[in-house]
Order: sequence, then structure tokens, then C-alpha cells
Amino acid sequence: RKRIRTHHLREMKERGEKITMLTAYDMFTAATFDEAGIDLLLVGDSASNNVLGNETSLPITVDELLPLTRAVARAATRAMVVGDLPFGSYQASPEQAYLTAVRFMKEAGAHCVKLEGGAEMVPVIEKLTQGGIPVMAHIGFTPQSEHALGGYRVQGRGDTAERVKRDAKAIEAAGAFAVVMEMVPGDVAAEISRELTIPTIGIGAGNGCDGQVLVWQDAFGLRTGRMARFVKQYADVHQVLLDGARAYAEDVKAGTFPGPEHTF
Ligand code: KIV
Ligand code: NA
Repeated sequence: RKRIRTHHLREMKERGEKITMLTAYDMFTAATFDEAGIDLLLVGDSASNNVLGNETSLPITVDELLPLTRAVARAATRAMVVGDLPFGSYQASPEQAYLTAVRFMKEAGAHCVKLEGGAEMVPVIEKLTQGGIPVMAHIGFTPQSEHALGGYRVQGRGDTAERVKRDAKAIEAAGAFAVVMEMVPGDVAAEISRELTIPTIGIGAGNGCDGQVLVWQDAFGLRTGRMARFVKQYADVHQVLLDGARAYAEDVKAGTFPGPEHTF
């Protein structure tokens, strides 16, 4: 089980093999997804609203995300581990971005970093890649900018398609090894995927991307309630845990756990 590297992803795109990515925020989910053959594990800043209890991805800090990234990096033997740079930790300058990204590589063992933004991030992407850090970009709907973008909205409809295409090309020219496209119309995302030589990873961007990513709590049903249209639910972890917790509580209340076989 050889470690997935950036050139493997590019080769997968060249031979038309789709790339798989999931989020992971702890050792056992990371080990399980790695065992399943998932190519990329993203320790997303979505840990903010999927692990830490915040409403959005904005509040999470570098110091909060580093230990989760370290746990995933320790557990994954094959998957490439992507550290997600939190809001405010890279936008101020290429130098700030470099120092933050180095922490994800050195302190947490990430193999690359992801950051949100298009053409405006070119100097940052250049600085990081020149400094030995592979960069995955993230365009279309970028959750860290939800207040600037006016909420969760598809990006690149109609006239704004050109902007998303320009962003994608600028990112590739700056040296990014891959790009996430979030909530971009399927035809626009497919066209960008054909025009770029680097792999595109879609979330709510249709089937024409070179790979797909989902947040695992959404995809495997730990989160309940209303879900974005782009989510497909592959498992019902919430129900499994609910049944397990209730059965345990019943046993304890009834005095049937622990039994003699659990007792020294
Ligand atoms: O943080 C995250 O989970 C992400 C993915 C949705 C791409 O950025
Ligand atoms: Na993210």
C-alpha cells in the first residue's frame, strides 16, 4: 500500500480513474477510510461544525485543527492527508500562509494543505509551492467567505461562470496540484475539468469532475436533519449509535451488564 502522492492523482486523471476524498477528523475514521481505499483524507475546517459544535467553519483555529490533523496523519498509511487552513490563518499575506502551512506539515504531519480562493490567492499558492508545500485550492462556493458571498449559493451560474473558469486557470498556473470545486453548475465544472491538467475534486459540482469529496458525517448519516442537495447518504451511523447507546443503557438499568464474563 504505497502512499498516494500528487503525481498519482495526476496519473489517475490522465487515465480517467476517478479520485476519492472524504473528510476525517480522528484516528479510527481515518484508519477505516484508509482501509477502504479512499485516496485523500481532508481534515477539513468543517471540523468546526462537525466536531467542535460551532455553527459554521469560521471559528475554528489553527491550534484546534492541528491535533485532529495529527491524529489522521498518524492513522492513514496510504491516503494523502490534506490539512485545511482555517479562516484568517493565510489570507493576510503569503508569509502568514507559509508559516501556517508549515505548522500543518511539521507539527501535524499533513502531506499538503488546502486553502480557499481563486485568482486573488495566486501569490499565496506560489509562495507555498516554492517553499515545498503542495497546495490544493478550493473555488466556487467557499464556506469561509459565506458572509461575503451572501450565504450558501451556487457560484458560477450565468455570467459568473467566466470568473470561476478564470480562477481555476489562475490556480493551476500558480502551481496548485488540485482544486476543489464546491457548488458549481455541473456543465461549468465539467468544462473546467476538461481544460485543466490538474485534477478537480467536486462537491456539489456534478459528475464531470476528476474526483469527489463529501463530509463523512453527511455521507454516512451521523448528522441528521436537512442535508444539502449534493449529499448522498451511504450509511446510517446515527441509527447504529442510537441503537447501541439505548441497548447499553437498557442493560445497565436492568442490571444485566456487566455479566460474569465481563467481571474479574
Ligand atoms: O472543510 C471541508 O470539509 C471542506 C470540503 C467540503 C471540501 O473544505
Ligand atoms: Na474546508
